[in-house]
Amino acid sequence: MSELNVNVIDHPLIQHKLTIMRQKETSTKGFRELLREIAMLMTFEVTRGFPVKDIEIETPVAPCIGKQIDGKKLVVVPILRAGLGLLDGVLDLIPSAKVGHIGLYRDPETLKPVEYYCKMPRQLDQRTLLVVDPMLATGGSASAALTMLKEKGAKNLALMCLVAAPEGVKLVNEEHPDVPIFTAALDERLNDHGYIVPGLGDAGDRIFGTLD
Ligand code: PRP
Ligand code: URA
Repeated sequence: MSELNVNVIDHPLIQHKLTIMRQKETSTKGFRELLREIAMLMTFEVTRGFPVKDIEIETPVAPCIGKQIDGKKLVVVPILRAGLGLLDGVLDLIPSAKVGHIGLYRDPETLKPVEYYCKMPRQLDQRTLLVVDPMLATGGSASAALTMLKEKGAKNLALMCLVAAPEGVKLVNEEHPDVPIFTAALDERLNDHGYIVPGLGDAGDRIFGTLD
């Protein structure tokens, strides 16, 4: 496999929280809270390269030049359903961001993504879009979402996930070489059912408590 292009954000706090999330005994409440916290911590790193501009302000003591994030508001795009688990953590740090939703599920037989919903804000071509989904497994869902967004005019995209498999990173690298990938962990492989090993199981079911 050629070299993977992925940013692994492995701050000790993130590693610690992710380890708790991976454990099968972790409750839905705990899983959801930790996912939100990790999303917030990852957002800090994902936004590190954002452009800033100078603005004139006055402190109680003197006028000065401050910095402000430049450009139109960011769009956070959770891939339904599990992507919703990362949304609030991103919005905790970027409360004025816009939110676009993409509904995709992975057909359990073919493992191919099936689209069922898409609602985006306007002027996608002038905005940065941060696509969020906890699991990057085969990469089919993320790649399809990125293609859909590009067809709607998006030009500046990034992908944030929690756990990625090498197979998924490779597919997104090949199909969307312009899109940086940020993950908290790069795991070993996929199993025969397309689940990430060791992974954390089905993220959507663990976030929403829909496990049998
Ligand atoms: C999961 C996950 C990703 C997708 C990853 O969603 O949240 O969207 O699978 O797999 P892939 O990389 O092989 O496409 P799922 O289809 O289980 O839907 P859900 O979020 O509604 O639970
Ligand atoms: N989707 C999940 O929720 N988990 C996996 O391991 C793979 C796809």
